[in-house]
This record gives sequence, structure tokens and C-alpha cells, in this order.
Amino acid sequence: LSHPAHEFCAVGGDASGCGGGGDGTRILIKGGTVVNAHLAEEADVYIEDGVVVAVRPDIPVDVDNVRVIDATGKYVMPGGIDPHTHLEMEFMGTVTIDDFFSGHAAALAGGTTMHIDFVIPVDGNLTAGLESYKHKAAKAAMDYGFHMAITKWNDEVAREMEVMVKEHGINSFKFFMAYKGSLMVTDDLLLQGLRKCKSLGALAMVHAENGDAVAEGQQRMIDLGITGPEGHALSRPPILEGEATARAIRLAKFINTPLYVVHVMSIDAMDEIAKAKREGQRVIGEPVVSGLVLDDSWLWDPDFTIASKYVMSPPIREAGHGKALQAALSSGILQLVGTDHCTFNSTQKAFGSDDFRKIPNGVNGLEERMHILWDSMVTGKISVTDYVRVTSTECAKTFNIFPRKGAILEGSDADIIILNPERSFVMGALTHHSRSNTNVYEGRKGKGMVEITISRGRVVWEDGVLNIAPGSGRYVMMPPFGYVFDGIEKSDATYRASLRAPVQRGKAAA
Ligand code: URP
Ligand code: ZN
Ligand code: ZN
Ligand code: ZN
Repeated sequence: LSHPAHEFCAVGGDASGCGGGGDGTRILIKGGTVVNAHLAEEADVYIEDGVVVAVRPDIPVDVDNVRVIDATGKYVMPGGIDPHTHLEMEFMGTVTIDDFFSGHAAALAGGTTMHIDFVIPVDGNLTAGLESYKHKAAKAAMDYGFHMAITKWNDEVAREMEVMVKEHGINSFKFFMAYKGSLMVTDDLLLQGLRKCKSLGALAMVHAENGDAVAEGQQRMIDLGITGPEGHALSRPPILEGEATARAIRLAKFINTPLYVVHVMSIDAMDEIAKAKREGQRVIGEPVVSGLVLDDSWLWDPDFTIASKYVMSPPIREAGHGKALQAALSSGILQLVGTDHCTFNSTQKAFGSDDFRKIPNGVNGLEERMHILWDSMVTGKISVTDYVRVTSTECAKTFNIFPRKGAILEGSDADIIILNPERSFVMGALTHHSRSNTNVYEGRKGKGMVEITISRGRVVWEDGVLNIAPGSGRYVMMPPFGYVFDGIEKSDATYRASLRAPVQRGKAAA
């Protein structure tokens, strides 16, 4: 395993700088169950200089120079990787309250050791967007990567996409089919973008809601005098998510390029993904924690501060959708779990106290994802190995950084959590590490606690105490042409041949 060159290091990084990332710390994690996506086994894990050196039973060490952590009765797993966050994002007239430091504190306390955030271009300009996000990320306390949103189209944007992929380690671009008047793209732009993504080996991602219909639905609610948070859910029903998901899937099929659907919130969208997969199309579906375990009844709470916390897009759906999304995750229709962590405090949410259209969209989850997934699904719905797959490994594979990330193998980065299945947790704003004064999982109780988080070989969370420094996080370059692109060339060649030989094709079919 080699560490790809780092384009930039966060300011004030540890003494070893780029490359290894370790500080000479030696750790032996002894006697636990080591879980990778392919195997759970009783083994020790030996870490040196930020990297996993050995995974096998009974590793002998010189105890004077090595910290030994007893993991008997506990699970030793790759740190979580959250594919979907928005730290310090300018959005809906304000800025998300968690930045690259408080967001990282929350993540590490919750067992997540890497995330991929969305760079938003500045007036459509990608280079300016990246500059701005490099600056925001200077206070990073854990490893991170970037996706980039595409919000306008011209030759310059197409050229910049190439530069982002070839020079800056970005291998995915997000297209918003909603947020009319700000981030929303047309079908024309989406088609151009899909074509460009394909040529670069970059994964196209979509926020799938029909933005024109959402605008119509919002006006309908206002005309009916429905201005509270419930109007948010009523104005953008699942049918609009299903429509956009189907449209994006068909356009990606037409271009013959893989597609990643972010925050799948409804049965309607999930069904479209299932259908496309059955037909052999490469579509990756990402549910988020809020969509898996919450329902929209909160939006009817008479207390605006409570109801508005749950406003995100696509909306959290009626009871029933979450269970169906969990089943889809268990059966592989949906593949990996994100958070869409996009937090606003109650003052920011109150911008929309007289008009739901002005409530900044977004919920928390970066700190809660690993615990909620464990508690709600590793209870008969998925295996421990699948837990590792959907919280870490699949993300690393999809964004082409496996097995440096997403695994505990010789040579992998030592991003590791130790989870005690017997300990209980209670979630809430008083104890969480996010800067927000609210939490959509307020009062939620469960079992299974991340007792220790190790980030690149350093114990950063232990006994409820964080030991982190701004600037110690590293940018992770993500190379193009990940596994989802394997064989695309061949299927293109087959398609082209079929166009030139229609007669033979007809005969072959007969
Ligand atoms: O409500 C949400 N999801 N806010 C974040 C922006 C996005 O659409 O992902
Ligand atoms: Zn570096
Ligand atoms: Zn979105
Ligand atoms: Zn998002």
C-alpha cells in the first residue's frame, strides 16, 4: 500500500508532515474481535507510525515501548467514513454551524475517522470553490476528502473538472436537481456533466428531487396558508424524489456512466434504484441515518424549535419509508450510509419561523451515525461484517481509496474504533460535540458504544475525552476510475458494434 502524494496538508500538521502521518506511537490492540467487511476474526492489531503493521493472534511486543489496549469482548473495526457532510457550508443565507474542527470533534467522538465534504463552487467557479474549502479545512482534526458540486456549465467548468480530477484528487461531482434559483441544474447541464464525468472516470452524484415541481408545491402550501415546518414535507412529496431519481438513472444509462444517488429518503426513490440494479445498471444508493430511523411526524410538533430541526431535503418521510430503506440496506439495494450532516442551530432555523421555505435545510448525524446504525441494525438486520461494509469499506471502495481506508489490513491507515457492545448510550445536545444547540436524536438511547477512536495511529477519543488538535487532519486524494468504472469501456464497444450491425443483431436475437 502506498500513500498517494498529498496535494496540501492542513496548517500545523503533526511533526511527521505528509506521507506517513504517524508520530512514532506504537499500539497493540489485544484480544478483540477484528472486523473487516470480508471477515471477523479473533486477532491482535499492531500499529506503528500511523499505519497497521500486523493483524494476527498473539502478536508479541516489547511492552516498555508499546501501549497495549485490552479489547477483550469488544469489536475492533475500521473507523467510519461518512460519504456526505456539509461543514462550514454557505447555504440558504447562512453558514452551517459545524466547521472542520467542531465537525471533526463530533465525528471522532462518534467513531468516524474520515468524511467526504462537498465543495460548493463560488459563482460556478470550481477553482475558487476549492480555494475556499482548503482554507476552511485548515483546522481539520481528522482525514477528509472532497466531492465537488457543479452549479453552472460552460467550457471553463468542463476544463476545471479535468483539473480537479487530475491535479486535486477529486473523483466525484454532485448535481443538484432541486433548490431552484440557487444550486439546481437543468437536464441539459446534467447530461453534459454526466458525459464529462464519464470521460474523467469521476462518479456523478445527484440530489434527486424535481426542483420545478418543488417550487410549485411550495407555492401551493403558501396559498393554502400552510407556512409551518409541516409545509416542507407536504410541498415535496416522495413522488418528486422518485421522478428525479428515475430521470437521473435513465440519463446515466443513456450516457452509460455510473450514478450515485445521495440521501435516498423514500421508497419511491429506492424502488427506482432497485429496478435499475435488476437491469444491470450501476447505480449506488446512499441512505442517510435520519432517513433510516426518523419519521416526519416531528414536523407537526407545535413547538417550532423542535419541528424545524427536522427540516432537510429531501424531507424525512412518513413512518414506513425508514423501515423499507433499512431492508434495502440489508439486502444490498442500497449500499452505504451517510449523514448529510448539515447543522444549523435554533436561531438559524428560526429564519423560517413564518415561512417554511426560509428554514435552512439540514440535520446533524456525524457523531450519531455509527452508534445508531449499530444499535438499530446489528440486532438481527445486518451482520457485523456488513456493518463495517456499509459504514466504511463500501465508501472507501466507491471513492477509490481502499484498502488504505476502510479496512484493518497490513499497510492500511490506522483509523480504528473499539466498540463495546455491552455499554449503553444516550444522545443529546448537552453532551454532543457539534456546536448546534439542538439534536434530532435528542434523548435517543441504545446499546453499543465506541470507547476508543484511533485516528492515523493516535488515540483521539478515550473515556469520553477527546485529544485532538486543529490542523492535524490530512487531505486524502481520491484517484479517478474506481471499481465502478470497470468494464464501462467494454460495454461501450459492444453498444457501438451493435449500431453498425443491426441485421446480425436481429439474427442473434432470433
Ligand atoms: O437538507 C439538506 N440535505 N441540506 C444539505 C444540502 C443537500 O441537499 O445535501
Ligand atoms: Zn500531506
Ligand atoms: Zn442534497
Ligand atoms: Zn447534502
